[in-house]
Amino acid sequence: MTDLNAFVTGLPKAELHLHIEGSLEPEQMFAFARRNKVEIPFASVEDLRGAYEFSKLQDFLDIYYQGANVLCTEADFHDLALAYFDRAAADNVVHAEIFFDPQTHTARGIPFQVVADGLLAGMSSAQTKHGLTSKLILCFLRHLDEDDAFATLKVAEPWLDRIAGVGLDSSELGHPPSKFEKVFTAAGDMGLLRVAHAGEEGPPEYVYEALDRLHIDRLDHGNRSLEDTVLTARLAREAMTLTVCPLSNLKLCVVDGIAAHPIERMLRAGLRATVNSDDPAYFGGYVNDNYRALIGMDGLDVRDFAMLARNSFLGSFLPDDAVTAHLATLDTYVRDFMA
Ligand code: ADE
Ligand code: ZN
Repeated sequence: MTDLNAFVTGLPKAELHLHIEGSLEPEQMFAFARRNKVEIPFASVEDLRGAYEFSKLQDFLDIYYQGANVLCTEADFHDLALAYFDRAAADNVVHAEIFFDPQTHTARGIPFQVVADGLLAGMSSAQTKHGLTSKLILCFLRHLDEDDAFATLKVAEPWLDRIAGVGLDSSELGHPPSKFEKVFTAAGDMGLLRVAHAGEEGPPEYVYEALDRLHIDRLDHGNRSLEDTVLTARLAREAMTLTVCPLSNLKLCVVDGIAAHPIERMLRAGLRATVNSDDPAYFGGYVNDNYRALIGMDGLDVRDFAMLARNSFLGSFLPDDAVTAHLATLDTYVRDFMA
C-alpha cells in the first residue's frame, strides 16, 4: 500500500495562496512586538493561540489585522518572509506566489517601500538559501473603497516590475468583485496579472463577477462555484486554477468537517484545483499539513495527490519552460516513488 503521508511530504509543489501576514507565528508576533515596542493585547503565546477560534471569515480577519500591527521595519518583513520560505522549503515547496496587504501597513504609517523592499529581500534570501523561487502579489482590501485601491496602485508604481499581479482579499460578503472593476482594468493595462478571492463565503455570482468584470487569471478559493453547474463546467473548460485551502476552510467553518471538503468533487468535475495554506500561522498548518488533512478522504488516491501538485505548477505564473522543468521533476518523483 502506498504511504500517502511520505508521498505528499516529498512531493515537489508550488504554493499559490499564502498571505505573508498570515504566516506570522505567535512566538514571532511577541518577538516583533518586543523589538518594536508595540503593545499586543495578549499576555502570552498560549493566550494568543487560545483566541484562534473562528466561526466565520470576519472573526479571523479582526485578529489577523491586529496581529499585523507588530510589523514595522524592513527587517521585520524580510524575517517574516524568510521564516515562511524556510517552512515552505521544508515542505518541498519549490516555488511560491505570496500575497501581501499593503493597505494594512500604510494605513498605520508604515511606508509601502518598507513593506515591499523587506518582502523582496526575503524572497531574494529564499532563492539564495533554498533555491526557492517566488513571486509577489499585491492584494487590495475589499472592505475599503476603490479609490483607496487606486491610491495603493499608484504608490506601488516604482515596484511594479517586481510585482507579478494584483489580488483581492478581506471581507467578501457585501464587497463583490465588481466594486473593483476599474482598478483591476487599470492593473491589467499596466501588464499585471489578476487574481481574486471569490466563492469562499460569497455566492457563485461573485465568481462570475471575478471572471467577467475583473478578468482574473486565477481564482482564490472558489468553493461555492460548485453550487452552479454551469459555472463549474465553465471553470473546467477554461482551465481556471482554483487555489483551495482545506485547513482554512475548516477553521473558518466554510466546510462542516474535513470529510465534507469539496476537493474531490472539484477534481472529478475537471477543475484545476490546488492545495494551499492561506494563513498557516492561524489555521493550524503549512502546505503539507493541508495535503495531509486530505489523506483518507473518500475517493482520493495517490494519482489525485500527484494531480494536485501538478496543478500547482500549471496554475503558477512561471514561464512555460520553468513549468515544464518542474513537471518533469514531479513525474520523476512519482515514478521513483511507485517503483
Ligand atoms: N486575508 C487573509 N486571509 C484571507 C482569506 N482567507 N479570505 C479573505 N481575506 C483574507
Ligand atoms: Zn486567502
